Amino acid sequence: MRRSALAMVVVVAMALPAVVHSSEREVRSPQDIFADRCAYCHEAGGWGTRVLARRVPEGQAELRQRDNLPPALTMLVVRRGIGAMPPFTPTELSDAELEALAEWLASGTPRQRP
Ligand code: HEC
Repeated sequence: MRRSALAMVVVVAMALPAVVHSSEREVRSPQDIFADRCAYCHEAGGWGTRVLARRVPEGQAELRQRDNLPPALTMLVVRRGIGAMPPFTPTELSDAELEALAEWLASGTPRQRP
């Protein structure tokens, strides 16, 4: 009985690294993250867009239209939140994903709509 319990522990312990590995999340593309987590507030007509329209130059309120959004600002705002925008934790959005998203928003790419 004791022996089989010990064997069980050994088997589970050996299996663990595989389990941990397989549950690692894949890195999602900036496009997917934006669509999932940001677009409902930051597309045209979204709440974030409407709030930003009050304080950014005309034509810049939609994040994907911005031509002056430094990656450092996006990374700070997403982690800390700003005004009514909630912060995002590293569990929701990894550092690597956030960095890629910030670069994507800062580049011209987002303005070239499909
Ligand atoms: C629940 C709605 C909501 C979601 C979701 C949201 N935002 Fe926001 N965001 C806002 C609002 C509202 C503001 C304006 C806050 C203010 O100025 O008071 C804002 C502001 C910003 C700003 C500041 C722009 C500037 O010029 O100061 C950035 C950058 C930003 N959001 C990026 C993002 C990104 C990237 C995501 C997705 C990971 C995201 N937001 C998700 C509501 C949201």
